[in-house]
Amino acid sequence: MPEPTIAQKAPVKVAVEAGKTYHWCACGKSQNQPMCDGSHRGTGFTPMAYTADVTGDKWFCACKHSGTKPLCDGTHKKL
Ligand code: FES
Repeated sequence: MPEPTIAQKAPVKVAVEAGKTYHWCACGKSQNQPMCDGSHRGTGFTPMAYTADVTGDKWFCACKHSGTKPLCDGTHKKL
């Protein structure tokens, strides 16, 4: 598995809606962080689907190394 690109070493807050599905960028190359914009083509990565269980703010991983993808677990502090 190739290493993902670190888009930034801080999470991105997104206001999600319950029941709505989002496509998180796993490769780190999207220009629309933290979500996929199709830039993963040819990288070996594919986006990860995330369906919100509740409406509210969620912190999505942008370093792409979180152990709880697509959400931040603080791993960016160790990179
Ligand atoms: S642009 Fe990164 S997974 Fe699609």
